[in-house]
Amino acid sequence: MGIVHFYEMRIHGQSYRTIWEAPDKPGVVQVIHQGRLPHVLEILDLITVEDFRCAIAEMQIRGAGLIGATAAYGMVAAVRRATGQDALASIQQAAATLIQTRPTAVNLAWAVQQQLKALSACTSHTDWLETTLRVARKIADDDANACKRIGELTLPLIQKISAAKKGQPVNILTHCNAGWLAFVDYGTATAGLYAAHEAGIPVHVWVDETRPRNQGASLTAWELSEQGVPHHLIADNTGGHLMQHGMVDLVIVGADRVTRRGDAANKIGTYLKALAAKDNNIPFYVALPSSTFDISMADGVAEIPVEERGSEEVRHMTGMTDDGKLTSVRICPENTPACNYGFDVTPARLITGLICEHGICAANEDSITALVCGKQGF
Ligand code: MRU
Repeated sequence: MGIVHFYEMRIHGQSYRTIWEAPDKPGVVQVIHQGRLPHVLEILDLITVEDFRCAIAEMQIRGAGLIGATAAYGMVAAVRRATGQDALASIQQAAATLIQTRPTAVNLAWAVQQQLKALSACTSHTDWLETTLRVARKIADDDANACKRIGELTLPLIQKISAAKKGQPVNILTHCNAGWLAFVDYGTATAGLYAAHEAGIPVHVWVDETRPRNQGASLTAWELSEQGVPHHLIADNTGGHLMQHGMVDLVIVGADRVTRRGDAANKIGTYLKALAAKDNNIPFYVALPSSTFDISMADGVAEIPVEERGSEEVRHMTGMTDDGKLTSVRICPENTPACNYGFDVTPARLITGLICEHGICAANEDSITALVCGKQGF
């Protein structure tokens, strides 16, 4: 198959990335405020390290690839303000602050480490600034390019199912948002859907709502609708039923960290979908840029740090009232305690294949090593 052309992601028909340097404001980085979607399209200016820290920690931006790109630009902000004798110490402090914001997506620490490594070869403040800016741009561009390539590699999988179904829509289930909003462009789990849609292959997406923060309902449903891809939102526990009734042909999810043995951390609830897919003989793919592999880890369940967030996210739901007000309501008794685990780990044995920009491989150590080791960054 030749090169697939599909467009950058669009909002109301206009191309956007999720992060960019403000063309008219030097030193300002802009992002889409994802906490306000799908109701309000708000662009945030990020200037200080605190702005970047807050954007990541408060989930104004989120998703493994975008967290990494944002942290990389956060390091540029740190360098910009680092002067005098304490300059290096303040940059190190900023690196630690950014890394501590969220624990599970390895892209965050990976991006900050890339910056620290590049800085260690610099000799002046001007050099620091130029270097970190170049690295941040490269991390963002590489992320978008990796996602585009993942789309090209996923397309034949969808085409094959479409051919077997004689052109009937291919039903693909996805969990959470590993869409373009989670990266710099295209997304990972969604890149193949967009490529197939552009290529005229009928696809239909089952969108898990993804409690507690509802990234499926608020983000994946929004971006699919902006790109014109047919989809239905489903309650989180619907997937198993659909699979039992032949209504899911393929599951594709993203990942926040994948170990060298192929265990994949992704948004809480992913593991249950993988179990149901296995029981129903449905292919279950994990799509990720190679920056999401953490080859220092082997056993994902034992080793991957799982973020625990505040109980209020489980006890409340946020949405828009019919008269257009964004509001939050409590959905349980006033004193009900809640637990909020952000991620779970799907063991490699439940994964049909891993799709990254270098190719598709089995979820095991030999295949992952053969595919990614020796490539850039490894
Ligand atoms: O908590 P989030 O929104 O940052 O979680 C990340 C996710 O959206 C998912 O886990 C996603 O499927 C993988 S990240 C690209």
